[in-house]
Amino acid sequence: MDVMVVGSGGREHALVQVLARSRDVERIYAVPGSDGMAEQAHLIDADAEDVDSVTGAAVDEGIDLVVVGPEKPLALGVVDALEEAGVRAFGPTQCAARIESSKVFAKQLMDRYDIPTADFRVFTSHSEAVAHVNERSFPAVIKADGLAAGKGVVVARDRSEGLRALTQIMVERRFGDAGKRVIVEDCLTGEELSVMALTDGETVIPLDAAQDHKAVYDGDLGPNTGGMGAFSPVEFYDDAMADSVFEDILRPTVAAMKCEGVPFQGVLYAGLMVTEAGPQVLEFNCRFGDPEAQVVLPRLHSDLAPMLAASAAGDGSLQAVGQQIQWKPESAVCVVLASEGYPLEYEKGYPIEGLDEVADRVYLYHAGTARTDTEWRTAGGRVVGVTALGRDLESARDRAYRQIESISFSGMHYRRDIGR
Ligand code: AMP
Ligand code: GLY
Repeated sequence: MDVMVVGSGGREHALVQVLARSRDVERIYAVPGSDGMAEQAHLIDADAEDVDSVTGAAVDEGIDLVVVGPEKPLALGVVDALEEAGVRAFGPTQCAARIESSKVFAKQLMDRYDIPTADFRVFTSHSEAVAHVNERSFPAVIKADGLAAGKGVVVARDRSEGLRALTQIMVERRFGDAGKRVIVEDCLTGEELSVMALTDGETVIPLDAAQDHKAVYDGDLGPNTGGMGAFSPVEFYDDAMADSVFEDILRPTVAAMKCEGVPFQGVLYAGLMVTEAGPQVLEFNCRFGDPEAQVVLPRLHSDLAPMLAASAAGDGSLQAVGQQIQWKPESAVCVVLASEGYPLEYEKGYPIEGLDEVADRVYLYHAGTARTDTEWRTAGGRVVGVTALGRDLESARDRAYRQIESISFSGMHYRRDIGR
């Protein structure tokens, strides 16, 4: 089949790479894709967030399966538009994508179906939120309802931080309409864990777990980013924990969505806090994690394409296809190389050295690069994700950091403690 990947980041590069290995995949297209993928995919110059352009391109090229990477096109209804145009697409409909695009929707769903998550309150009025914050205990977590590129969550250590977050989100509208409603919830403590699962709306096939590193500096210091690195598998995610995540979280959530009349097809990403009382949901995403995909997908031994196709088809075939899912007995570590200043202001256009020679079992996932006639240049905040496989976490980590020694660009920074 011919497949089209929507998006242009490191996650989409990893998707293109594993799809290129598939026996079922003939041609790969990417909208808009990136120069880093150009050897494996035909790039289509269109805006991933323009639903009509994406749909038009898929129809023109006679695509058999569209795989949507980022949340924004999903929240804008790209899957609905594709299905309407007769093109099969992997990912949830606009209504089902609300599990990510509205945190209020997700929290209320979990509340109704007893899915473990922090206790919370929802506010549409700033003054009522302030009254609550003035009397509640801290730390507490303040969240904008809508999509805010991962920046709409504040873990407030005390009341004044909580009040400041409410002002920024609800009064200053730092995230626009995403801040019309806020959630104020209890702060959970424990280890964070990301578990993704493929689903056709009924069958749920969990993928192996990953952990990501969101803070910009070593030791989890500094502001949050889109993700500075990740690793998989996760040592403490044993069979018992996998069972509990499946039975208490993934399966009931997919069943709840069906019950609510918004069946969820695609990949359901559960961002979890493993507390003393067991795993609890911090958030759901309606897509592959970035950079979690860059460590989970390269570990996949099975062919991903038939699983994505079965999930999109929703004809019950995912059960048989997914049951045979197999993993390489290897660990993966991904270290993100970022531009100076990221996640705040940064400049682009610096030449990058060292992207053309890659060691065995290392993959470079381009997140923000551009190719000129003669060289690679930086073109984003997160520039390249360096993923390495190894027999264990330590050897994967050593291999990734060894590769990084030969890559350089002006202002390049990265965390030295990924996977530690
Ligand atoms: P979210 O986008 O909802 O996953 O939140 C981003 C980050 O905020 C998470 O990865 C956690 O580190 C933190 N976070 C969110 N909710 C909570 C919570 N209830 N307790 C503690 N930390 C949280
Ligand atoms: N790595 C977190 C996310 O993809 O949202």
